[in-house]
Amino acid sequence: MAILVTGGAGFIGSNFVLEWFAKEREPVVVLDKLTYAGNAENLSAVFSDARLTFVRGDIGDRALVGSLLKDHSVRAVLNFAAESHVDRSILGPGEFIQTNMVGTFELLEAVRAYWGDLDATARGEFRFLHVSTDEVYGSLGPEDPAFTERHQYQPNSPYSASKAASDHLVRAYHHTYGIPVLTTNCSNNYGPYHFPEKLIPLMILNALAGKPLPIYGDGTNVRDWLYVTDHCAAIRAVLAGGRPGETYNVGGRNEMTNLEVVRTLCSILDELKPKAAGASYWEQVQFVKDRPGHDRRYAIDASFIERELGWVPAETFETGIRKTVQWYLSHSEWVQGVLSGSYREWVATQYGA
Ligand code: NAD
Ligand code: TYD
Repeated sequence: MAILVTGGAGFIGSNFVLEWFAKEREPVVVLDKLTYAGNAENLSAVFSDARLTFVRGDIGDRALVGSLLKDHSVRAVLNFAAESHVDRSILGPGEFIQTNMVGTFELLEAVRAYWGDLDATARGEFRFLHVSTDEVYGSLGPEDPAFTERHQYQPNSPYSASKAASDHLVRAYHHTYGIPVLTTNCSNNYGPYHFPEKLIPLMILNALAGKPLPIYGDGTNVRDWLYVTDHCAAIRAVLAGGRPGETYNVGGRNEMTNLEVVRTLCSILDELKPKAAGASYWEQVQFVKDRPGHDRRYAIDASFIERELGWVPAETFETGIRKTVQWYLSHSEWVQGVLSGSYREWVATQYGA
């Protein structure tokens, strides 16, 4: 028996696999296409572990997924694989439709065929856990209550629309075919192995390189930040105890404006890696053109998973962000490895010269 982790070489998937090996005994099959965001190096600490099988491939390859499920007697699929960057989805939505919608459909079809051939006990115990986002719920006003699991889906970007579509497919495969699915909708994550085109790692690396810190619009957009290993713990809790067909919202109860996040990062860097002559990294901030259709505010009401499964985050933003900055400061080799040609092309397209 094993679990199949798709997208296991990405930011959250690789953190999940590393933690799994630290806490569990069960083998893991990682299926990852290794797009620009996937980095097999993230798993280097467990490469020599005989319980890891790493396969480079696409969740949309139904035959490949079908044979992995059979060959490894997979008892649970955890679907992390996705195109995940809102700004990229605005510049080119095609890949998002392909992986997040068509890919999830093909993955579900492979699972449906495999699951249908299992005996009744194994069918009952099987789980398909779909990792999704709070962005499917759309944007909140300043005084609106946080998203619960019953909030209406109102996705605003091609990214969130493609994730919403995948959530609906997963739900339909439960209601129509009876596959025991679980869905998690989580808020913004941060932590080690975060690809440096998302807000937090981009700001850390630009600050250290003496480059501008580009804040979209007026910087008052709000996100609810969760340390990545807390998200991984929530996923393990849902896999172990979640009710098939149910959705679990996961969040840190930690709403912050982008300005507050960047201010915090700058003050930690000022302390840990001071600039010459008492200058502050904050002086590198530049306000740039806003993202089209930029969602104002996301906030998660996590009371359901707290109540049902006893999950609570272990990190506060203060502890998590400090760990994150320290990780980037001590992993310059990893940073150099991901700052490849494709990354540089992206920065030139998104932010200009
Ligand atoms: P990421 O972009 O860092 O990693 C995605 C991984 O999926 C990469 O390793 C990539 O190579 C792989 N991949 C992409 N297309 C694939 C395909 N067709 N077949 C197989 N592998 C493929 O993303 P992440 O931040 O780790 O997010 C993981 C999941 O969590 C996504 O589904 C995302 O929607 C969701 N999520 C992310 C956040 C966040 O803040 N990062 C928050 C909530 C939910
Ligand atoms: P991001 O990390 O792309 O996550 P998401 O858009 O999925 O929440 O962005 C987080 C917030 O930071 C979002 O409000 C956009 C903003 N942002 C900037 O202000 N500047 C940047 O260079 C980036 C990448 C994001």
